[in-house]
Amino acid sequence: MTALLEVNDVTKRFGGLTAVKGVTFKLQKGEITGVLGPNGAGKTTLFNMLTGFMQPTAGTVTFNGEPLKNLAPYQVVNRGMARTFQLCRPFVGMNLLENVVVACLSPRANSDKDKEDRAQHLLEQVGLGGRGSEPVETLPYGDLRRLEIARALATRPDLLLLDEPFAGLGSSEIEPLAQLIKKLHREEHLTILLIEHKLREFMALVSRVIAMNFGEVIAIGPPEEIVKNPKVIEAYIGKTEDAHASA
Ligand SMILES: Nc1ncnc2c1ncn2[C@@H]1O[C@H](COP(=O)(O)OP(=O)(O)OP(=O)(O)O)[C@@H](O)[C@H]1O
Ligand SMILES: [Mg+2]
Repeated sequence: MTALLEVNDVTKRFGGLTAVKGVTFKLQKGEITGVLGPNGAGKTTLFNMLTGFMQPTAGTVTFNGEPLKNLAPYQVVNRGMARTFQLCRPFVGMNLLENVVVACLSPRANSDKDKEDRAQHLLEQVGLGGRGSEPVETLPYGDLRRLEIARALATRPDLLLLDEPFAGLGSSEIEPLAQLIKKLHREEHLTILLIEHKLREFMALVSRVIAMNFGEVIAIGPPEEIVKNPKVIEAYIGKTEDAHASA
């Protein structure tokens, strides 16, 4: 079976710092895979290289059978890979509906003749139905995350990358958002790659984990194996549980 995404020996150096070092993995269609690792492990840098925000110093990324070399972020989106950010980035000065309509102008959404209709539908899908006229500036953080997901879905992605979707959310907001991610995976046939520090929710969502430390992949496997892996325990779970307990 051809992989949807193939990351082969990808490295990113910033001057003397190697943020990502020889990372290799594949994603099959329909998987929910998680990227785990302590702060500074290189997770977001990896996402930046997959999505055209940064070019790898070395290595290759192949998506849907095509190399992604030297593409700008919008070109990666047009090939079917969309992302959300660790910090939300809505268009301020626009309401929720307008924020999603802009994303519906993406070439992959060409078949959606009525952009406003499609945007309304997407808002409903992420649990923000009927709230299109609200300004983004007053939106609680949990709803901003849902808006970001709606904007990513508007581009009709095959692969959705979520960078810490639960960051900054209260405990009552996390479980419903996890349910939304599960629902989208099921109903939209999405392949999902997500970074998250909230371990319990993370492990319940993903079927496979890519564990990183100091820019390198230290283990790949199902969550039940990863939590028992001594390298992962040393790098992440043992040392940083306290640091993230209140995150
Ligand atoms: N644009 C940049 N220029 C220089 N160094 C960078 C840049 N972006 C990231 N780094 C460094 O690369 C390393 C990896 O950072 P990255 O943001 O990828 O980590 P992360 O795993 O996403 O961490 P966190 O869990 O805190 O979000 C860090 O040491 C960071 O300071
Ligand atoms: Mg990060």
